[in-house]
Amino acid sequence: MSDLDEMIRLAKAARENAHAPYSGFRVGACLRSGDGRLFAGCNVENVSYPEGQCAETSALGALVTAGAFEVTEVVVLAEGERLCTPCGGCRQRLAEFATSETPVHIAGPEGLRRSFTLGELLPEAFFFERGRA
Ligand code: THU
Repeated sequence: MSDLDEMIRLAKAARENAHAPYSGFRVGACLRSGDGRLFAGCNVENVSYPEGQCAETSALGALVTAGAFEVTEVVVLAEGERLCTPCGGCRQRLAEFATSETPVHIAGPEGLRRSFTLGELLPEAFFFERGRA
């Protein structure tokens, strides 16, 4: 099984645990860190709607919590006809740990649908140099 297949498998499994009673839209994500580890996440909604978080954000929290820093590959998986590309906020959050060349793969339950780079999804991203806290 290729690394991408494994990432898709993990995103799909994470999606099964999504807490999405308000939208009914379940999403899974998987991130590969610079040291090769894989981190999955699902969307976690809240009765106070703006307090929910996306699958990408959950996965990013797991990656950073585990001591990883770079994000070198991203998978986002959901059902439905439309590609489930990351929302604007998640594009910015991913950009904190990735580069404009980082692949972002969009998948459905059947497998890979389309691949982008983060730079295609978030051109001219805001950034400024600062020390790591
Ligand atoms: N959502 C994600 O988890 N990731 C995306 O890339 C797009 C949207 C979630 C947020 C919310 O829980 C639900 O999908 C419907 O917007």
